[in-house]
This record gives sequence, structure tokens and C-alpha cells, in this order.
Amino acid sequence: MKPIEIAKGIYDVGVMDWNISDFHGYSTPYGTSYNSYLIVDDKVALVDTVKSEFADELFYNISQVIDPKNIDMVVSNHTEMDHSGSLARVMHRIGQDKPVYCSKLGLKNLGRHFRQDLNYRAVASGQELSLGRRNLTFMETRMVHWPDSMFTYLKEDRILFSSDGFGQHYAGHEKFDDQIGDAIMVHAKKYFANILLLYAPLILKLVNQVQEMGLPIDMICPDHGVIWRKDPGKIIEAYARWSNQETRRKAIVVYDTMWHSTEQMANAIASGISSQGVDVRPMYLRKWHRSDIMTEVLDARAIVVGSPTLNNTLFPTLADILTYMKGLKPQNKIGAAFGSYGWSGEAVKLIEAELEAMKFDMVKPGMRIQYVPDDSGLDACYAFGQKIGQAVIEQESASAVRNITTNTSL
Ligand code: FEO
Repeated sequence: MKPIEIAKGIYDVGVMDWNISDFHGYSTPYGTSYNSYLIVDDKVALVDTVKSEFADELFYNISQVIDPKNIDMVVSNHTEMDHSGSLARVMHRIGQDKPVYCSKLGLKNLGRHFRQDLNYRAVASGQELSLGRRNLTFMETRMVHWPDSMFTYLKEDRILFSSDGFGQHYAGHEKFDDQIGDAIMVHAKKYFANILLLYAPLILKLVNQVQEMGLPIDMICPDHGVIWRKDPGKIIEAYARWSNQETRRKAIVVYDTMWHSTEQMANAIASGISSQGVDVRPMYLRKWHRSDIMTEVLDARAIVVGSPTLNNTLFPTLADILTYMKGLKPQNKIGAAFGSYGWSGEAVKLIEAELEAMKFDMVKPGMRIQYVPDDSGLDACYAFGQKIGQAVIEQESASAVRNITTNTSL
């Protein structure tokens, strides 16, 4: 990739990873990018590096702007190796004694990643660093999404270098939000649902903090995907909405099946849900990747989960998605379970226990059918779906009443 001058004297010298399709368990059919930013001022700063195997491409990109040896410092906003993987090689090339600015926890974590004793300099929130005509301000963003994470703000250009925050796993010829339009939002939503959802309360606090500080922001430059320059407020508002875990009139029916019985149940339940005016999508686990399911979970109000009983327990794909979902801590959900069984039939109870552990409001009892559903079994599944659909509508009315009460008390 040729470096792109994103503002006068500021370049994206990062790389595209067109071929990655699995990013530690997250499906990335569009690949991703590792953005790295070069700020050429009286002093030259490099903000974040790239995954180790792309180090040569990073050097090539930098070389088209300046000799890499002229970089005076590196800012490491985040220790995860897709951004720090080339750090040791960069320091070897530019000079081991040059400073690497990072958060206090970055200091600790970078030291646990690299054997070289680099010249780390820990910075605190609000601390400023002059590059000459421009100034960097650091902002710790602990657990968004690692302990070491921080943002760096370039005051004079009103640019926020936001590390993973506001990123998307997307590689494309477009470098800015205005070049791709709304099509980028699905990638941003998927990123939030799979990487950041667990930290939603902290993100909400951070978004509020940024809004209260009234920081003028002309551009948000994440470490993955496109840069937000047309309307940075749009992604900030989306983060506020996603962090609030707002749901809509929508249900998903996640299931696996052995001999199509649980599949027939899933489709009948989905039909019953739909009859109540609720958007619904059956999601067969051997068609849908767990990370795409999580994207749908983010704004769904009901999560209905179905599994056959295999060896007295859940089907393995269900154990996978339930473990993954539990870790990401979705909230404000209605849950329900179903499944076909042959003789012991433990799966439905096991799913219910998992959904209850996630604090979902359950529609119980779950629906179990022995072997193959007949017409009356399918009717029962349809009725179960209707009950779930009604619960979705009722929860919406209850939260509307809550909102009215809250607003009145204000
Ligand atoms: Fe893109 Fe948390 O690394």
C-alpha cells in the first residue's frame, strides 16, 4: 500500500492484510488492515506498528515519506501483537535508544512481549508531548480493550488516534468513511460485538468522558479499517448506542441439528415469533460463524437456542457459541431453549442453565420433542415461538414505561 497523506504531514503508512480470514477466532472475510501513522513535524513520531510479518512493507511505506532512521519516537497505543509485532524491528532500524511512549500498563505489558530492553517511557492521561509545532496528548483507555490501551490526541490537527476503538476488520481500496459510506457500519458493528462488547460499561463511560471534555475531533484514526473523517460523530453515537446494549424488536434462533428434527423445530419457532411482528432469523451453526452470530446478538432482544442431545449433553457447536457469548456478556436479553432428543434429553436444561447464567429473562419451560416432530409437535413449537414473540413486545412496552417514568421524574 502506498502511504496516504491523511492531513498535512500526517501519513497512514500501515498495511492491508487481504488474506486473513480468521482473526483469533473472528471471521474476517474482507481481511483487515493494520494502520500505522507517521507524523512528520520538527520531531517525527510513528503511532503504532503492524503485525510482525508485515514489517518490511511498513518500512517500505515509511521510506516513501522519510528515511525510517529519522523517526524520533514511537507511540505504542496498544500492546496486542497486531500493532506491536514489528516494534522490535522498528526500534532496531531507527535506534534502540529512541523513546517508546506507552501507558503505565503498556510499559509492563510490552516488557512481557519483547526480550529487548527498549527505552519505554510511561505516560499518564492528560500528559502532553511536543513534536515542535504540534502536540500529542495521551488518554489512558484501560480495558478498551486491554489494560494497556490508550488513545493519542493530536491537538492542532484535531485527530484522535484511537487504537482498536472505532476500528473495523476491513481491507479495501477505501481509506475514509466517505469513500465507503454506510456499508462500513456492519463491519464496525461486528468489531464492537466481538471485541468490545464485554467492556461496554467502560466504553460508555469513555464516550461520555470524551463528549464532556468537548474535544474537537475532525478525524478518528483507528488501527483497523477506514478513518472516520466525514462524520466522526456517527461512530461515536453508534458506540454509545451499542454500549447501552439497546435492543430492537428482533429475535435470533441459533441451533444445530443431527437429523433435521431440531432444524424443523427452529423453523416452526421462528415462524411463531414472526407471527407477532418480530424480526427473526434462524441461524444454523454450520452455516453461520460465531462472530456473525454475535453481531446479530448485539441488537436482538431474544436469543433462542436449540440443540439435539448428543452423548447426554449439548452438541459441541452449541457449547462453542454459548461459551463465546457468555464471555462477551450481552445484556437485556430474553432467552429460550429447545431441542429434539432420543432418550435422555439433557440439552434443553443445559442451554437454559447457560442462558440463566448470562442473566437472560427466560421463557420457560423450554421445548423438547422426542425424535422427529409430528404436526402437533410443530404446532407446539409455533405456539412457543408466539410466546417468545409476545415476550419481545412486552419487554419493549416495559422499557417504554420505564423511560416515561424516568423522564417524568426528571
Ligand atoms: Fe487490533 Fe487489540 O488489537
